[in-house]
This record gives sequence, structure tokens and C-alpha cells, in this order.
Amino acid sequence: MDSVDDTDPGLAGLSPEFQAMLGGLAGHTASFAKILEKRTTSTEKDKDDEVYLESYADLAIHEEMLKDTERVDAYRRAIDQLGASWSNSTVVDVGAGTGVLSVMCGKRAKKVVAIEASRLSHFLRKVVATNAPNVEVHDARAEDLELTEKVDVVVSEWMGYCLLFENMLPSVLSVRDRYLKPGGMMLPSKCRLLLAPLEDQDWRKQKLDFWTSVHGIDMSSLIPLARATYCGTPQHHLVDASKLLADPQVIFEADLHTVQIVDLEHFDAMMSVSIPAGRRLDAFVAWFECDFPGDFGETLSTAPTRPATHWKQTAFYLREALEGGGGCEVQGTVTFQKHEVYSRGYQVSFDLKVPGRKPRSEGYELR
Ligand SMILES: C[S@@+](CC[C@H](N)C(=O)[O-])C[C@H]1O[C@@H](n2cnc3c(N)ncnc32)[C@H](O)[C@@H]1O
Repeated sequence: MDSVDDTDPGLAGLSPEFQAMLGGLAGHTASFAKILEKRTTSTEKDKDDEVYLESYADLAIHEEMLKDTERVDAYRRAIDQLGASWSNSTVVDVGAGTGVLSVMCGKRAKKVVAIEASRLSHFLRKVVATNAPNVEVHDARAEDLELTEKVDVVVSEWMGYCLLFENMLPSVLSVRDRYLKPGGMMLPSKCRLLLAPLEDQDWRKQKLDFWTSVHGIDMSSLIPLARATYCGTPQHHLVDASKLLADPQVIFEADLHTVQIVDLEHFDAMMSVSIPAGRRLDAFVAWFECDFPGDFGETLSTAPTRPATHWKQTAFYLREALEGGGGCEVQGTVTFQKHEVYSRGYQVSFDLKVPGRKPRSEGYELR
């Protein structure tokens, strides 16, 4: 009888592409050594970019995005409607990922250019070959893309938590500025960030008051650490819309045809919030909406009043709740500033004033 080698071939038994991807499947950890090695020679921004793109080699992230049907269906409806007139058009998909949007566009347009800078591009090639052969894959960073012709449409799903986290929009704008024909179409075409006051005593009990007695042990000495941990970093989770104290205010909006990278580096907005008698302000909660062009009014909304998306909402919890007393008016400013160290993050601050009380400032690291 022939001897059969049934030992597990391990990684060596897989194709080089699968070996490369497995690093990505294990997320940041498996590739960490490689990243650290490169870190000694690159600039801070290059390092952030490497870590960022490496995170998109993780298939689990794409699975989560593809299972977000609110997200995918909004793009699908827009592409179906607008794509009816694309038979002679060229579309660029910036950050094509698994190719979902490229394939949708490929079924409508004459040609699609799919750009993907992460290691997933190897598989993107296979997905489009199976589904839409008129999609041309560029394994490149959007900023380095070289095309010989201008295009009619730029499509991209570039939004991060709190709309701007990840800072991918500048990469999309670099393609728009170099390759979109005058009068060409951006998908989505508009975006806005909204902010509303939230009363959320339950969260404060679970995350801060929890430490007062843990399995009968007084751990209240950890409360300052818990406050620094959870109230210094925005919390991305689903909030209960019934806990909103007022309608949202738009604190940032952009027309994707005209917005400039510099507009994303710093912005602020005045806020005015009424806290009803007996209520309290625990947090400000942010979410975003993106509009698609055309008369049919397609909007992708991540509002707490809408079905959940993988972006959830982003809550900025105050270190101490602001009690409404007999009812009070809070006047303030919220400021978003590109993070001075983490090129894909922001420093967010709230300056709040209530007549007759000490002014308060709260700062957060969106990173
Ligand atoms: C939010 S995902 C969207 C993926 C896909 N379009 C979808 O809708 O499922 C963004 C993708 O853009 C890629 N990406 C980010 N920055 C890029 C850049 N500067 N150049 C090319 N690809 C980029 C990421 O690797 C990731 O796959």
C-alpha cells in the first residue's frame, strides 16, 4: 500500500495569495511584526496608512460591511436608478474592497475602474472576473492612480465612524480632482454630520457607577480611570432614540463635487440645546447621512431613528452629567480638528455654557 502523507501542510500548503491573505484574516496582530519593521523607516502618516490598509485586508471587516443591508441597498438603489444612463460611461470605484459596488456599476456602465490598495485586491480581481469583466482592477492607492482618460462618475464608500474617522475622503477627492469630467457625478454627492443631546443614565451606571461595588469589592478608586477611558474617547454604539433630548443639529455638511481637503481639517459649529426640567445631559450623539444625486432622493442615514447600520452612532459622554434643574439652556461650540498625531483621526472638543454655572470644556480623541 502506498504511504499517504496526511500531515497538515499548514500555510506552506496554501497558494502564496492565500498565505498573504491569512495574515490579513488574523487582522492587525499577525502582520504586526511586518508593520513594525516598516515603521522604522516611514513617516508617521505612512505608518498610519500601512496600519489602516492592513486592517482592510481583514475579511471580517468586509463581511460586516456586506451584511449591512441599509448600506448596500442604498448604493444599489442609487446605482440602479442613475446607471440607467451609463451605457457609454466610465465609472471609478475608489476603495473597491470586495468589488460589490464595482460589480453593480459594471452591470450598468461601459467600463469601471476599481482601485483597491489593500491586499484584498488579489481577490477583487477574481470577483470582478466572475461577475463583471468590464471592471478593470488597479492594485494601487487612489492618490497614485494613473489613468489616460477622464471619467464620468466617481463612486466610493469612504465613510467612517462619525462620518470622517479614517479620513478616506481626501483619497476620493484626489481622484475627483484629477479624473472626473466637468459636470461628472459623485456617488454619494452630499454628506452631513448631525449632533443631538442625549440623556443616558443607564450607560453611566454600567460604565462608571459599576466600579463602586464589583462582586462586593469597593473598586471606586477605578472610577477616575473608567471616566478617562470612556469619556475621553467617543463610544460607537447604538443609542436609543427615545433618550434624545432634542432634534439634531447639522454641524458639518459637504457637497462632494466641491468640498476641498482643507475643509475637512478643521470645522466648528455653534450649538444651542434646551434641557427640560428634571432631565439631564449625559452625552452628545453624532451620526451622519449621505445623499445620492438625482430626483429620486436616495439617502443613506445612520440616525438612531433608522434601522441600524455597522456605523451605529457615536456618543461623546460628558465626564459629569449636566443636570437640567428647573430647565436650562446650554450654549456651546463643537470643534473638530484633524488629529495632530494620528493622521486618520480627529480631536473633538465641546465648550459649553449654562447661565449662572461654571463653563465646561470636554475633549475627545477620535482615533
Ligand atoms: C469602507 S471600505 C469599502 C469597500 C467596498 N467599496 C464596499 O463598499 O464594500 C473602503 C475600502 O477602500 C480601500 N481604501 C482605503 N483608502 C484607499 C486608498 N487611498 N486607495 C485605494 N484604496 C483605499 C480600503 O482598503 C477598503 O477596502
